[in-house]
Amino acid sequence: MSYYALVPAAGSGARMGGETPKQYLPLAGRPLIWHSLATLCAVPAITRVFVVLAPDDRWWPETEMNALGPKLSVLRCGGELRALSVANGLRAMTGMLSDIDNDWVLVHDAARPCLTVAQVENLITEVADDNAGGLLAVPVADTLKRAHDSSRVLETVPREGLWQAQTPQMFRHHLLLDGLDFAPQVTDEASAVEALGLSPRLVMSDVTNLKVTYPLDLQLAEWILANRRAV
Ligand code: C5P
Repeated sequence: MSYYALVPAAGSGARMGGETPKQYLPLAGRPLIWHSLATLCAVPAITRVFVVLAPDDRWWPETEMNALGPKLSVLRCGGELRALSVANGLRAMTGMLSDIDNDWVLVHDAARPCLTVAQVENLITEVADDNAGGLLAVPVADTLKRAHDSSRVLETVPREGLWQAQTPQMFRHHLLLDGLDFAPQVTDEASAVEALGLSPRLVMSDVTNLKVTYPLDLQLAEWILANRRAV
């Protein structure tokens, strides 16, 4: 049984604005995606790190990424939706698995550059004996409102029991592929496994593992990386 990472990085980052996809924007002196990949490559339990690029990606900085070492493999099979990029990546890596029935895949957004090795190791420890798999997440802290138009409240949604899903999300390779075939429109891997009737484990994370979506997130990520020891 082995652990692999799969990093979907075939999005255009439309909400960020600009021409360069967000995974290639500069962050602490490197492309944003470098930080996500460097952390996953540094986890001893992870055998290989697969990154899924758009087939016509022209920003991937070959030389800089080669410095991350031999664990990193590039798959140019990204799809229209995140779920399709992940499913294509899972199929492309099938022949490279050591044990198709038992191997684990940790799917991590390229756009979460502040992930730490300790967070990944905690996820692996908590989920390794759980056949449903699991994900990093944080309990919702704010009061939530559902809107009926862009600026009017329809109702307040009780936050009790609500968690914000993060990545990595860790599942058996074959289970995740079955889930994504069954539910191809999902926005995270756990939803695909839930669609099969399973209940993935929630593993406590923290807000520093943020997803860079808007320009301000980039500044927050920069601050988190610069102050790592203090947060
Ligand atoms: O757009 P969003 O922030 O939800 O994207 C999350 C991750 O999924 C990013 O790393 C992005 O590059 C990736 N993605 C992908 N293929 C798509 C859309 C998003 O690999 N079609």
